[in-house]
This record gives sequence, C-alpha cells and structure tokens, in this order.
Amino acid sequence: MDRMRIVGGTPLRGRIAIGGAKNAALPLMAACLLSEETLVLENVPRLADISTMKRLLAQHGVEVDARDEQGASGEQTLHLNAAKIGSTTAPYDLVRKMRASVLVLGPLVARFGEARVSLPGGCAIGDRPVDLHLAGLAALGAEIELTEGYIGARAPNGLKGARFVFPKVSVGATENLLMAAALAEGETVLVNVAREPEIGDLARCLIAMGAEIEGIGTERLVIRGKPALHGGRHRVLPDRIEMGTYAMAAAITGGDVELVGGDIDLLPAVFPVLAEAGIAAENTAGGVRVYRPNGHITGVDVMTEPFPGFPTDLQAQMMVLMSVAEGAAMITETIFENRFMHVPELRRMGANINVHGASAMVRGVRALKGAPVMATDLRASVSLVLAGLAAQGETIVNRIYHLDRGYERLEEKLSACGAVIERMPDAA
Ligand code: EPZ
Repeated sequence: MDRMRIVGGTPLRGRIAIGGAKNAALPLMAACLLSEETLVLENVPRLADISTMKRLLAQHGVEVDARDEQGASGEQTLHLNAAKIGSTTAPYDLVRKMRASVLVLGPLVARFGEARVSLPGGCAIGDRPVDLHLAGLAALGAEIELTEGYIGARAPNGLKGARFVFPKVSVGATENLLMAAALAEGETVLVNVAREPEIGDLARCLIAMGAEIEGIGTERLVIRGKPALHGGRHRVLPDRIEMGTYAMAAAITGGDVELVGGDIDLLPAVFPVLAEAGIAAENTAGGVRVYRPNGHITGVDVMTEPFPGFPTDLQAQMMVLMSVAEGAAMITETIFENRFMHVPELRRMGANINVHGASAMVRGVRALKGAPVMATDLRASVSLVLAGLAAQGETIVNRIYHLDRGYERLEEKLSACGAVIERMPDAA
C-alpha cells in the first residue's frame, strides 16, 4: 500500500485548481439510469470512487465513455448511456467498496420497477444505515424487503408521487428520493431535505433532463413526475470540501494560496469561522485567495451541522488547524458517531486533544512533530497530510488509498505550491 512522505515547515504559496465535486458527481452518474438517452457530465474528477461508480454502472449495462473533451484543461467528461440495462442488481463486492453505490437504488426502481442492491454496511466513521432511503421509497409505493444482505425493491406498476417528511436530514436519502420522484406518477413533496449544494446540482441536472422540480436550496422540494427523462449535458460544480481542505492547508502553513475555480459561497459557515481564527479569504477573478494576514491562529469552537452549517467533511481538517492555534477550541461532531479516528494519530504528533463523547477539546501547541501515522478514512487521512505540512520534521502517512478516493493529484497540487511531499510505493 502506498504511503505519503511529507517534510513540514514550508508555507504554501501559489495556485491550486479545485476540481469537480466527488459528492455531486456520484449521484449525477447514477442519474443516467433514469433515461435511455445519453447524459454528458463535464468536470468529473479522476478519483477512485468515480472509477468504482463507473464499474458499478457498467455492470448494470450502462455504456460509460470517458473523454478528455476539455482538451488542455485535462478535465474529464463522461458520456453515460443506460439504454440497455441487463441487470438491476448492485452486487456486494462493489457496494461494500463505496456506500454511495446505494444511489442506484432510486433510479433503478423508478425506471425498471425493480432493484436488488446490497446493503452498504457500515464504514469507519459510523453505522451508516439506509432506513431513510427505504422509508422514502416505500412512501412512493415501492415494496421493500431485506434478504441475505440485499435490499429488494419492487414497484411493478411504477412509483406514485407522495408527501414524505424526512425524520432527519440525509444527503443520500434526499438524492435517492429526488431521482426516484422524477419518474414517479404525479406530484411528490419532500420535506426536511438536505440542502447541500450537491443536491441543487443534481436537481439542476435532472431539470436539464426534463424533470420538473421546485424549491431548490430550500428544505422542501416539489417534484412533478414525468413518464421519461431525456438526455442532457451538465457541468459538475466545484468540490467545496476539496476547497475547504486546501484553504486550511494554506492557513496551517502560514501560506498564501489562490484556490482556482473555488467559490466562497459554497462554504457559508466555514470562511467566517476561519476569519474568527485569523485566516483571511477573499474572492478573486479566478477563485478564492486564502492567507494568514497577521501571523497567528486563534482557537475557535466548531460544531458540525447539515448545510448551511459547518460540514462534517471538514471537521478533521479544522481540528488539525486548531491543534496549533493559540488558545483552545471545542470541536463537536453531530453528524457521525465515530468521526474522531484522526485524534489518536494527531496525539502521536504532539497534539493536545481530549475527546468527551461527541466533543473534542483541542488545546493549541506551539508545533506538531512529524511521525509515522495511519490513515483510517478519507477526511481523517487528509487531515494527517495537513498535520505533516505544518509539523517539524518528517511525517509518513500510511494507507493513503483512502486519500485517492477523494483528492485528485493531491501531492502534485501541494508540491506545486512548495510543499515537500512525495508518494512512496510500499516497500513491501
Ligand atoms: C454524504 O453521505 C456524503 N457522501 C458524506 O461524505 C458526508 O459526510 C455526508 O453526506 C454528510 O454531509 C456522499 O455524498 C457520497 P447522510 P451520506 O445520509 O449521504 C444518518 C466524504 O467524506 N442516516 O447525510 O451517507 C447517517 O448515519 C463522505 O466525502 C440514517 O440514519 O450521509 C448519518 O449519521 C463521508 N439513515 C446522518 O444520517 C439513513 O437512511 C447523515 O448521513 C441515512 C443516513
């Protein structure tokens, strides 16, 4: 397994291109199942999770064609055609690799009246149930049964529009239900939906395919189902979590970086918190400039919440920033039940962090010390890279296959801004 070697202490200076959002591209790819015509997706990031979704769609019978239509910019454009679907089963060996595979469930049962999708199972950060996905599909008339670790969903006479109130906010369940409702007969009203920008991106793509959706950006979506959707072309929005991650990398190294293609409005709760901590961010013609105007970082309390609150996917990165701040910061994780696995690794680098249930008290130290550390999940692994960039000495991050799931060309982007970072093929 590859490892990453980092020697800390260099302030990042320069420009980092922000790619298309992984967590938008995955549901957008699943949306191709709703039509027999081609869906063209631009600005699709080159990530392990995207490759897994390509394999999953291909085994259903989708024709997946990746072209570099954008030429010099090197952006990936996908042409997806689901005219000939041979199987409505999503097998365990693919679903267990990536939980977002469950996003084929809604489109399959909506268009074909049946689907058999492996239960995703938990992951490092939590149990990750899919009960809200299933309750919503049942509300649209699907018969659901769980057998041998698989979800069986049937709607032989098609789905019927209904009103469904989410008992708790769920990004994936909102996406599954939004896609299913696009082909359900009649009107569907979804209440207490997730409002992440990726949901709006999916809704806009579905509208480009002929869907009728109102309420984008609010907690209530009204969808008037259509008998069929046509093809379309859609550009994936910028990855706000990648942008926030590199903003914190610039902050923790005392650097000055322009995040090209980024948009401050995609992280309404994050940049004000960074400003409170002493980090400046401003829109530029090409993106967002992030720098540390007066040299020090101040401890600021953070609590993760559904959008527009502070995103859980930036909690680990913020914790690293706070670990070298002046003062203390209380970081509370309200979305997932086990998302502090980066804490023991950061402690090994000298961080002063005490976890009490869903909260971690971080007391800033003057400097972290490089050490060999272990990545456990996507965002925890990138937080260890950030720690290495700031630490004195050398840090080796093991199991960086987690990183490759969500960060395209990370070492290339960071070393272009002066970081001393290299990927080391595993010695073994
Ligand atoms: C999406 O996961 C993202 N993944 C996650 O990003 C992100 O952390 C999460 O949303 C929250 O923003 C993708 O978009 C592919 P949820 P998702 O359903 O949809 C519980 C990353 O690092 N829940 O909003 O799975 C669930 O256990 C990943 O890129 C139920 O109880 O998240 C969690 O506690 C990690 N029942 C909470 O709701 C359900 O049926 C929020 O989960 C569904 C979810």
